[in-house]
This record gives sequence, structure tokens and C-alpha cells, in this order.
Amino acid sequence: MGLNGRLVITPLTDRIYLTITQALSMQLGGAPAGPAGTGKTETTKDLAKALGLLCMVTNCGEGMDFLAFGKILSGLCQCGAWGCFDEFNRIDISVLSVISTQLQCIRNALLLKADKFLFEGNMIIMDLKVGIFITMNPGYAGRTELPESVKALFRPVVCIVPDLEQICLIMLFSEGFLEAKVLAKKMTVLYKLAREQLSKQHHYDFGLRALKSVLTMAGQLKRNSPNLPENVVLMRALRSLT
Ligand SMILES: Nc1ncnc2c1ncn2[C@@H]1O[C@H](COP(=O)(O)OP(=O)(O)OP(=O)(O)O)[C@@H](O)[C@H]1O
Ligand SMILES: [Mg+2]
Repeated sequence: MGLNGRLVITPLTDRIYLTITQALSMQLGGAPAGPAGTGKTETTKDLAKALGLLCMVTNCGEGMDFLAFGKILSGLCQCGAWGCFDEFNRIDISVLSVISTQLQCIRNALLLKADKFLFEGNMIIMDLKVGIFITMNPGYAGRTELPESVKALFRPVVCIVPDLEQICLIMLFSEGFLEAKVLAKKMTVLYKLAREQLSKQHHYDFGLRALKSVLTMAGQLKRNSPNLPENVVLMRALRSLT
């Protein structure tokens, strides 16, 4: 995963951490669901990093079949890594029902604390650190409703609104802004207004992803011109990225 920095721990990240770790203690997977850019994928990766585990993110699509999925699962079990399957509900419903059998098979081995088990016709070793997570945007076009057999194997976490102001505040502080508190408030209000009042075209993005790139950019500008007033630095970053 490389050195990708740290996430800001907000009440939402905390909730995802707690639900996921609880799910693992019950030998279940975790299923964060919610709109784009709320931190579902990143939070799962961040928790894996905090626990010192490898986390492989796979983007799922219509073309994925149960053989490919089974191969990934078998690899994860053998090396004790976490798998985060993004956009899991894009997979075809007929494939999902086979996948649920594969997942159930892994869960049985976990429940028995087996060190070897039969998976897809092969006897493979089992590293009990394995964890399986799926993230989804429910209700988007072209997504399937998960079958009950899959739902039962995952604990759901709902991520709707990220704590923008807190993320903004802490990131600005970490970039060295002394007036972070005022600036974070102004910036989140600006983004909120822009999101609500401008037309809903897909090239407009006032979500967490866009906000974060402005903050990183502001940090760079601040280091290059330490004598400028902080609000001017932030304004420049905003203007150059929006
Ligand atoms: N708590 C946080 N602190 C700092 N940055 C965050 C936090 N949560 C999310 N982000 C940032 O927000 C961006 C979007 O997060 P992420 O990719 O996890 O979204 P997602 O919910 O998986 O979206 P999608 O449904 O589009 O895949 C990333 O750049 C991530 O670094
Ligand atoms: Mg994602």
C-alpha cells in the first residue's frame, strides 16, 4: 500500500473500525455501504495497515466469474491477507450465489480454526488472519441487490456523510495552518453551498475527494510561501483546483 499518509479519525471512521473488528471476532466479513467518496475503501485499508496486515483491493465488475473470485479468495486464505472487494454488487447475481458458497466454506474453516481445508477442490492451508470486506454504492444503476445468502455473511456499516469539517480542520493543522479552525469552517460551508446550489453535473465534484486535494495543495503552497496570510494561501489552492 505504500506510505499513503494517515486518515483523520472521525466518529464515522471509528464506527467502521468497531463494526469491522466486531465482525471479524464473529468470523464474519464487513460491508461498508454508502455514496461515493465517504471513505469506505480507505478506512478498510487504514485499519488493515494499523493491524499490520496486507490488504488487497479488487475492483469488481460484470465480467468477474466465480473462478476468478475463488482464486483471489484462495490466495487470501493462504497468506492471511485482507481482501477489500470494491463495487461488489456489480457482480452478476448468478455469480454471487456461487460466491456465497465459497465464502461460507471459508467461514466454516474459520469457525473450526482449521489449519487446512478443502476449497474449490483443493486442500489449501488456512491463515486465520484472513478477512473479507465488500464495499458498495447501493441503488446505483447497474447494481444488483445482494442475495440473502451473501448478506448473512457480512456485517453492514452505513457511511452516508463523512465528517468534512473535522477532516478539514485536522488536515489543515497538520499542514501547518495556525488559523485552521476558522478556515475549516469557511471551507466546509463553501463546499456545502456549492454542492447544494450549483447544477448537478457530473464534472462538478464537491465531495471529500475534491476537498482533500485542495487541502494537500494548500499545504504545498503554504510551504512554498510561508509569509503569505493563510486565508490567501487557501484561496489560491481553491482557485487553482476548482
Ligand atoms: N477519515 C478520513 N480522513 C482523511 N481523508 C479521508 C477520510 N476518509 C476518506 N478520506 C479520503 O476521501 C477520499 C475518498 O475515500 P474512499 O476512496 O475510501 O471513498 P469510497 O467511499 O470508497 O468511495 P467510492 O464509493 O467512490 O469507492 C480518499 O481520498 C480518502 O483518502
Ligand atoms: Mg471505494
